[in-house]
Amino acid sequence: EEWKDRGAAVSIQRHIDSNGNQTHRIVKKGVQDFNFGRTLGEGSYSTVLAATDRQTLTEYAIKVLDKRHIIKEKKVKYVNIEKNTLNRLGDHPGIVRLYYTFQDERSLYFVLDLAAGGELLGFVKKLGSFDEECTRFYGAQILDAIEYMHSKGVIHRDLKPENVLLDDQMHVKITDFGTAKLLDIPPPNRSGNGEGRMHLQEHDFANNIGIPDHERANSFVGTAEYVSPELLTDKAACKGSDLWAFGCIIFQLLAGRPPFKAGNEYQTFQKIVNLDYQFPPGFPKVARDLVERLLVLDPTKRLTIEHIKSHPFFEGIIWGKRLWKQKAPRLK
Ligand code: ADE
Repeated sequence: EEWKDRGAAVSIQRHIDSNGNQTHRIVKKGVQDFNFGRTLGEGSYSTVLAATDRQTLTEYAIKVLDKRHIIKEKKVKYVNIEKNTLNRLGDHPGIVRLYYTFQDERSLYFVLDLAAGGELLGFVKKLGSFDEECTRFYGAQILDAIEYMHSKGVIHRDLKPENVLLDDQMHVKITDFGTAKLLDIPPPNRSGNGEGRMHLQEHDFANNIGIPDHERANSFVGTAEYVSPELLTDKAACKGSDLWAFGCIIFQLLAGRPPFKAGNEYQTFQKIVNLDYQFPPGFPKVARDLVERLLVLDPTKRLTIEHIKSHPFFEGIIWGKRLWKQKAPRLK
């Protein structure tokens, strides 16, 4: 028997004791409840494995993190950021959902949505580039997910085609919230509406042994090619930083390469702060207009999400729930 306590599914074991009395025991999900399968991805601190819930046969992606390594490398803080962020990001089809967490002596386990299609980057590499229709569709789903994230006070800070996964329907699922920034203004309607998200009852597996928040919060720099100029010059990210990355992604889907790319990180950063990029010949005019209004050095002068949604490039997109029920255009 299964039920969800704020999304944290636990099973209830029924026992009949020697006097014939029925008792119940609440059992949390653990490693033993899953069959582990193939490796889906490997990071410096984690491995993502396909896994199946033995009881429900539901497939998941389980991120396995090595505790010793994380503590040794002082990454505890980022693991907690990822967990807290995923918990804040309730229920949106465009964001990888966290179902359960548990741990054993060696590892932490995050049970996530399986995105069977893998990384968007894989498709860009395989196809070279996307046509306008595909870019519009994937771009729209990415933007809808960003809008939701921002409405919940989350800045991703490392959006890139590797962190955009695709599910079995070729719908977008954004992942990797380990470097997200949680804005501390608690957005309204965050809890108590029974949306089915878990609250991690278990105490954090270790305390914050990293650098204090006020010193560290703004010093993160994401992947060089997608980093916004304000992060490089002011060491501060804002919601607009995700929209800069979004502009880079739209450019990349159509051009087959990110706008700012150089031999090394330093040169890439130089290009970014100088807005040094060019559109390849044949880049669609309407998409060029959109990208030019996103790749703007002053983050306050970038298009807002509302304006992006009404930009002619996204003409024909029906925003909202319908976008997630739509059939993905075939990639060509
Ligand atoms: N690689 C990393 N996370 C993944 C996920 N949730 N699904 C599929 N592959 C992944």
